[in-house]
Amino acid sequence: MSHFPIVIVLTGLLLLSGCDALEPEISCLSVLMQGDIQHVAKTREQRFLGKVTGRRAHCLGGDHAVALNRNPWLDWPNFWGTGDSLSLSSSPLASSFFGPNERGINSALYELELQRIELIKFNLFDNSGTYQAYVTGRDGRAGPVLQVWPEMQLPPTHPRYKDVEHNQEHQVCSGELIRFRTVTGICNDIYNPLMGSTHQIFARNVQFDTTFPDLGLDEMARNRHGDRLGLLKPDPQVISRKLFTRTQSQPDKCRNDDELSGDLEKFACDYKKAPALNVLAAFWIQFMTHDWFSHVEEESDQSAWMTVGCITQRIDNIEQPLAAKEARQLGCRPGDRIHVAPIDDDTPPASFMHDGHLYRTRAPKTTRNHVTAWWDASQLYGYDERSSQRVKRDPEDAAKLALIHVRESVDRGDESGYLPTFEVDDPIDPAWSGQEAAAFPDNWSIGLSFFHNVFAREHNAFVEEFRKQAAKTPDADSGLRNPAHPEMIIRYRDVTAGELFNVARLVIAAEIAKIHTLEWTTQLLYNEPLYRGMNANWHGLFHEHAAVSEVLREIIRQLDDTEGISNSLHAAFAGGAGIFGLGNHRYEGAPLYSLVDRNRKDIWTLTRNEDINGGVNHFGSPFSFPEEFVTVYRLHPLLPDLIEYREWHNNPNIIRQKIPVIDTFRGKATGAMRQKGLANWALSMGRQRAGALTLQNHPRFLQNLKIPHLQSSTRQIDIAALDLIRDRERGIPRYNEFRRQYGLKQLTSFDDFIDPRVPGDSSVRREQEQLVRTLREVYGQHRCDASRLITNAQLNDDKSPINDCLGHPDGSLVDNIEDVDTVVGWLAEFKRPHGFAISETQFVVFVLNASRRLFSDRFFTSSFRPEFYSILGVEWVMHNGPGPEIMEEGTYNGHRQPVSPLKRVLLRTLPELADELQGVVNLFDPWARDRGEYYSTQWKPRRGAEGDEVFTR
Ligand code: HEM
Repeated sequence: MSHFPIVIVLTGLLLLSGCDALEPEISCLSVLMQGDIQHVAKTREQRFLGKVTGRRAHCLGGDHAVALNRNPWLDWPNFWGTGDSLSLSSSPLASSFFGPNERGINSALYELELQRIELIKFNLFDNSGTYQAYVTGRDGRAGPVLQVWPEMQLPPTHPRYKDVEHNQEHQVCSGELIRFRTVTGICNDIYNPLMGSTHQIFARNVQFDTTFPDLGLDEMARNRHGDRLGLLKPDPQVISRKLFTRTQSQPDKCRNDDELSGDLEKFACDYKKAPALNVLAAFWIQFMTHDWFSHVEEESDQSAWMTVGCITQRIDNIEQPLAAKEARQLGCRPGDRIHVAPIDDDTPPASFMHDGHLYRTRAPKTTRNHVTAWWDASQLYGYDERSSQRVKRDPEDAAKLALIHVRESVDRGDESGYLPTFEVDDPIDPAWSGQEAAAFPDNWSIGLSFFHNVFAREHNAFVEEFRKQAAKTPDADSGLRNPAHPEMIIRYRDVTAGELFNVARLVIAAEIAKIHTLEWTTQLLYNEPLYRGMNANWHGLFHEHAAVSEVLREIIRQLDDTEGISNSLHAAFAGGAGIFGLGNHRYEGAPLYSLVDRNRKDIWTLTRNEDINGGVNHFGSPFSFPEEFVTVYRLHPLLPDLIEYREWHNNPNIIRQKIPVIDTFRGKATGAMRQKGLANWALSMGRQRAGALTLQNHPRFLQNLKIPHLQSSTRQIDIAALDLIRDRERGIPRYNEFRRQYGLKQLTSFDDFIDPRVPGDSSVRREQEQLVRTLREVYGQHRCDASRLITNAQLNDDKSPINDCLGHPDGSLVDNIEDVDTVVGWLAEFKRPHGFAISETQFVVFVLNASRRLFSDRFFTSSFRPEFYSILGVEWVMHNGPGPEIMEEGTYNGHRQPVSPLKRVLLRTLPELADELQGVVNLFDPWARDRGEYYSTQWKPRRGAEGDEVFTR
């Protein structure tokens, strides 16, 4: 190991300094440098499970990390420097590169990167026919290095089939088809036209045999769950009422009235609040999910309807009918009905043998994603013919979106206008009439109205800036090129309105991806390793953080040292690109788009398909979201029941009204937005905290949502219960196997959920214990049978197979922890990394899929170029707007930061908020909160907001 000399040199220096206190640091360094480090697992059951040895834990986080090392949760959040200021070491060397804090943070990054590599290696299961080739390889090439698939070629019946070139091996998209983001998402990858496009099949992240456990097709699934599972077993509405309902101190005031009154005295709804995340963040993610996935078949007749529970409950460990009186007491409704979730294919999948193992070619049932999987702002611009017709262009400038004048106000931003509403002949579901025109109008909310309006204004702001440049220098090179005529310079004056519209779409989509990666995620996961990790993801390895690059380089080196080159293929992206990193350049003599010197001559050219497409990496499995990704985005508890409404020009510290969110649903969102204006809603949602993602914290309005078209006596549905039912219909493995599949440690009883750091006599501990009792009541217990093996994804610590007893004595009464619905499980995770609004189980799903979403998309890697985006477009995305990057004054959590991308967007589109936003660094942190010292999550007012009543209540 080449580290040895470093240790010697360092030891020498430290000894010369004669400081005894430094000895522990030296011995730690030798532990870390001389082996004792995890490697990428060769086989699934050898994964490192996010755990380190006790010795290593001690070096990286002291006694605290050792004490927590034996529980099932990830170890890195216990390392030095990964929490708030209390996690910082006071050692004299604390913040030097070799000191405890940097060591803790960089080792956390190492763990995260290792985890990502293992996720890529073990968790890709494509459902669309490519899986067999992934396992067996094709034409002498290993599965994980395949980059082109017959299943991703356009079929002869496809309307664009004739527009792609057909060479001997595969199709090639060219010309107009590769110039911009296409409506249906085809030709993002020029050799795999269908990949990521509308109506593709959802993939899986878990072994096919573990999906649909309640069908009992697999012996291990039967061993895991006995006969205890079914679509309505345990009863989803009962789970919702017992484990999801928010408790209220004044239940009569927490109502689901349909009348918009906003009377401060009449309404009061309690909810558990996320400490450092606001309501804008909650709606942001609804806005994002509408871009990424949808199971909704817009034009289907939805003929099959089903009951949805409120029929049985478990009492004394026996499932018993629920009497009408008990149902009333719980608040559930046996009369509710919903349509059956559409399934694409439920015929038995074919199977194949490889290396003595039998594999299924896909999951027992498959489903389709009815929008593009790309991060292409399709919720704004459309994902098929029908949805695109809903997008209205400005009649005077077709490059712009239509925005109209709707309100007289003092708000300067209102001059830019608001989205028009749907017209009678627009292709819509009648339930959407009265709403603002949008490509994806389903479940329209005040937050969706907000973000759609803001980004329509932002689209137009880009177009106006481009036109300004064009007016100033009409003959100058815009940077744009047409792939059909690559040599021809396109001057500003040559750019048509249609082209400019599409360039603006590219820019807006990239801007949204940047906001999500660098602003939303770093607030959702508010700690230093994630800040560095997300920045490395975005800017590329070599951007700002030399330490990050070192860590990642080390991983690649280790991979090559230990297992040969094949492993580093899984980690190729660790070496590289990042969205604005090096993937969009090509350098002579450098086959990989990474690990190269930025100053070398860039020889990228639009005439070479390899340059256009060469920065993407799909890791052997075509990019598509898995069903498991949808599950972890069931974030309904983020929503409060009431929005605390404020006015920016009328003392923002005062709450003027409390407006039920239900009164801002569908068309009412449009009315409320136009009446009160974007800036006031921004302020209100920016200052209010989101709900915490935990048990007994679902909004009441979603448990009682009125949907008039439902074919039921109640015309209501409990969305919290439906979240469980949909997951069961789509075959999501239950919580414990879900964790094992993703390389996390299993739980062995409901007690494992209790956060060991919480003092035994505290009210928080009592609440956790009460919830554990409710989990046991709802899911029950059984006498275990040690002869029944329940998984092949992992082994016990002593390498024996895992059986039904989960380490408890054979025949003992064990918790039915295997049956817990995944959503229930991750909401019950009380122990979380510092600053995490989500659980670690959700987090690993994001780690894998959020990375793939960037690295598979040509427009974020090798085609992030002026040839596609224009010079202004590239600058806009890189600098968060026109002109040079603008920096915040001062440092935050030890970093100098640019003014955040969403802050710049709001300053452009809602300039009246400039004063309010002055002290805001991350737009998803409650706007009046003092960010304090190093990753504080305390609830304290910033200067100027001391009078805000939410801090004194
Ligand atoms: C006013 C606010 C909201 C309302 C009324 C609402 C309502 C709904 C409804 C009716 C469904 C469809 C259930 C089904 O038939 O499968 C749904 C699905 C879903 N919602 Fe929400 N929701 C809201 C906010 C949110 C937020 C803030 C998130 C956060 C990410 C979210 C995430 C999801 C997800 C992931 C699904 C599943 C989508 C799919 O199956 O493709 N929702 N929601």
